[in-house]
Amino acid sequence: MDYLKAKSVKSLKGTIDISGAKNASLPLIAMTILAQNSVNIKNLPNVADIKTLLKLLTNLGACVSFEEQKVVVDTVPLHETKATYDIVKTMRASILVLGPILARFGHCEVSLPGGCAIGQRPIDLHLKALEQMGAEIEIKAGYIEARAPKGLQGANIIFDKITVTGTANIVMAAALARGKTTITNAAREPEVVQLCEVLQASGVKIDGVGTAVLTIEGSAGKLINIIDFSIIPDRIEAGTYLCAGAITKSEITLINVEPKHLGAVLSKLEEMGSSFTIEKNSITIHPSETIKPVKIVTQEYPAFPTDMQAQFLALATQADGVSIIEEKLFENRFMHVSELQRMGADITLNGHTATVNGKMQLSGTDVMATDLRASSALVLAALVSEGETNIHRIYHLDRGYDSLEKKLEGVGANIKRLKE
Ligand code: UD1
Repeated sequence: MDYLKAKSVKSLKGTIDISGAKNASLPLIAMTILAQNSVNIKNLPNVADIKTLLKLLTNLGACVSFEEQKVVVDTVPLHETKATYDIVKTMRASILVLGPILARFGHCEVSLPGGCAIGQRPIDLHLKALEQMGAEIEIKAGYIEARAPKGLQGANIIFDKITVTGTANIVMAAALARGKTTITNAAREPEVVQLCEVLQASGVKIDGVGTAVLTIEGSAGKLINIIDFSIIPDRIEAGTYLCAGAITKSEITLINVEPKHLGAVLSKLEEMGSSFTIEKNSITIHPSETIKPVKIVTQEYPAFPTDMQAQFLALATQADGVSIIEEKLFENRFMHVSELQRMGADITLNGHTATVNGKMQLSGTDVMATDLRASSALVLAALVSEGETNIHRIYHLDRGYDSLEKKLEGVGANIKRLKE
């Protein structure tokens, strides 16, 4: 198993090229199940979750080939309709194949994903919406068995809660359903927007893209001629490197980034004392003299993302004063706190709220990554810790960060990947 060994640095300097967004790639790869053609996808990040989903599609009969700078996915030969436990257990987002397979074949079996470190993460809203579209769903022996022998029918869906993968699943199912589907309380994340835009550009009529109410005209089962596309930049990866700049008080330039998607993150960094030069596809963070404490509440887009909570918590350990960070989306997303405490951070947890007393000098030690974004918080802390930090279980990190240690080394960090 790999681990990262990191030492503190005075400051970082240079340019980091941002990869394509993992969370945009996953639904867009699942969407190719609706295609009548093979689809070229550019700017896919080189991360484990993408490989997992491509492997799932290959197991179902699709052909996937890797060519220079692009991946070609041909789902025309796809014939299996069962997503088995061995793959689904490694990545909950495998649930994204449920909507498109059911819409195309009229039946689908997807293993229940099982427990998840950051909270319950149920999929009841996905299932209820598919039932409203005419699916019959049973849970049998750990599998979701869904059938829609007469095809799916457009419906009026009102999500009780905003769900990102739930919205994506229903948009994909609706694209092949009979008639019109309206989704109220839809997710507005840029990754959902890109899914809708690619479908629109491929001829699917979707109104309300980027708003909380989406209306999708289905094709009544006819497969779609899907265009080639390039994945949008990863706003969470970008946010993580901005935090690396802020915590080390450095100047770093991010390229191939979409500043428009980072509004809440940039605004919180500004409150903490950072300043930026922003151009169309680049952001330079300038060194700040001090780091100010902050109040953060995680919420759905366009508010502050839960996927940046752990990184800001690490940053807050270096702020001059008391920061309050409230997690509203996932009930158990503070597992990085105990590891940061082991490094010397002064953090008190009360339910969904963390109070961070800065500024504490952190000390390097052996720490364990507990989930994807928690891992990057430990890396950020390591950049300013005395001595050496060994971050174990970085398979979590590899699920969603493309070449993290190489990108950080490129701007002067002292960080290496080693074998246990
Ligand atoms: C997606 C992102 C993840 C991010 C999260 C919130 C992907 C692959 N993952 O996860 O990185 O942290 O959005 O921005 O895009 N819920 C239910 N029932 C459901 C579905 C969700 O109660 O059927 C609840 C969840 O428990 C959670 C909230 O709704 O409290 C939001 O979850 P959701 O948006 O579905 O998260 P994911 O799509 O799994």
